[in-house]
Amino acid sequence: MLKISFSRLARPKTGAIVVTAYKGGARTPSLAVLDRDLRGMVGRALKSARFTGRAGEIVELLQPFARGPSRVLVVGLGERAKLKAATFETAGGLVAARLLSSGESHASIMLDQVEAAGLAAGEPAARLAFGAALRAYRFDAYRTKLKAEEKASLKSLSVQCETVSESRRLWAGLEPVADSVHFVRDLVTEPANILYPEEFARRVKELEALGLGVEILGPKEMKKLGMGALLGVAQGSVREARLVVLTWNGGPPDAKPLAFVGKGVCFDTGGISLKPPGGMEDMKWDMGGAAVVAGLMRTLALRKAKANAVGILGLVENMPDGNAQRPGDVVTSASGQTIEVINTDAEGRLVLADAVWYVQDRFKPQLIVDLATLTGAIIISLAHEYAGLFSNDDELARRLSEAGIAESEGVWRMPMGDAYDKHLASAIADMKNVGPREGGSITAAQFIQRFVKDVPWAHLDIAGTVWINEARALHDKGATGYGVRLLNRLVADHYET
Ligand code: BES
Ligand code: MN
Ligand code: ZN
Repeated sequence: MLKISFSRLARPKTGAIVVTAYKGGARTPSLAVLDRDLRGMVGRALKSARFTGRAGEIVELLQPFARGPSRVLVVGLGERAKLKAATFETAGGLVAARLLSSGESHASIMLDQVEAAGLAAGEPAARLAFGAALRAYRFDAYRTKLKAEEKASLKSLSVQCETVSESRRLWAGLEPVADSVHFVRDLVTEPANILYPEEFARRVKELEALGLGVEILGPKEMKKLGMGALLGVAQGSVREARLVVLTWNGGPPDAKPLAFVGKGVCFDTGGISLKPPGGMEDMKWDMGGAAVVAGLMRTLALRKAKANAVGILGLVENMPDGNAQRPGDVVTSASGQTIEVINTDAEGRLVLADAVWYVQDRFKPQLIVDLATLTGAIIISLAHEYAGLFSNDDELARRLSEAGIAESEGVWRMPMGDAYDKHLASAIADMKNVGPREGGSITAAQFIQRFVKDVPWAHLDIAGTVWINEARALHDKGATGYGVRLLNRLVADHYET
């Protein structure tokens, strides 16, 4: 990850110099001094570029000095009155995107004194660093022919500010998050021939070194627990299923844990209800929910969160095969409820049914949040802007919505109710695994709810947010790592002692 440091304001002697600008009003001190020393060159460049200081604007000057610093970047922060955490994250991300493979190895951002309503002292500088660290991510593991000029070059960033000690303290809480977002993106990006359930579990096992408990259950143990729904999905694959149980006990010993459950379908062909070929390669990231749960638990351990949490990863591969389950098969879940599998492509809910049941049975959690790339329908509803939120508890739903706003990882609450649930009636078993096409994300949530006892529960359908085929402020096109920030914030704001 990008190496971040904080220091007092002082003209950097090498690398890229970044200064900030606001829309309207006076120049920032660093910009004014730099422009004076460069005899007006910066001001003329901004004018030529029609730079106004809008958030998201950036102008770059190459080699303005005869010796020393190699370039100057001016980045817009928008209007002074409208500054918020996301403004600084976006600016940091913009700088990182611009410099990542520029040939530059070090950059210094000169952040003059800022006052932003609602932001703690030190937060602007820390959020700049956070945005840059999040954006400075590449996955080059399988590129053997990268030319020198295509390789990532940016290694370190110093943020100069007047809040060095406060910013360092805040960064200590943000660095584990950024680092775990990268961990999640790696898992999500790996192809399914490399990252199958056993390998996923092996990589998560390494988190024991951080003080997390990591238990791995195989098919035999799961069979004993009666997990016929999860195992039914896995039975068409030569890759064995795994259930990973992560525990972090940073809270009081008697406090009930928070439970996080992730769908980990390492590849989803649809099974016998085979998906069409176009875009099927995307289904390598159908394990995104499990990756986020692993990333969250990693974050909690790294920052030694004062909370008890358990993470469950339901890891399978959904393949068509002579041994695969058939449409119409009836499976018995760990809860004892029977399910008629009408469509083998609605497999995520089958995995979650057993994983959600297991975590309640064993850990008696105070709440459950499950995350899953569950339905294509949620992408039709919300595109890539929000995850779908389904919940039986208004307070938990509100807390998640607020955390989403604070961390720029939005959730949008969707309705639930008996009118939807009744579509799951089966002629032969307790329920079927699909409803009609209409409201497909909602009936999927209703299905999961049938395995939730009397406990606050939220389901996040993250099919639209795990992977985005367009670069944005804090990620390149590809895996986003969505969810780590959201859930870390939920825990930090409400469940730490
Ligand atoms: N993993 C898919 C959902 C998905 C689709 C995620 C596209 C990301 C992008 C899930 O297992 C699935 O196949 N869902 C079906 C459900 C249907 C059979 C009721 C879907 O959404 O079509
Ligand atoms: Mn599917
Ligand atoms: Zn799936």
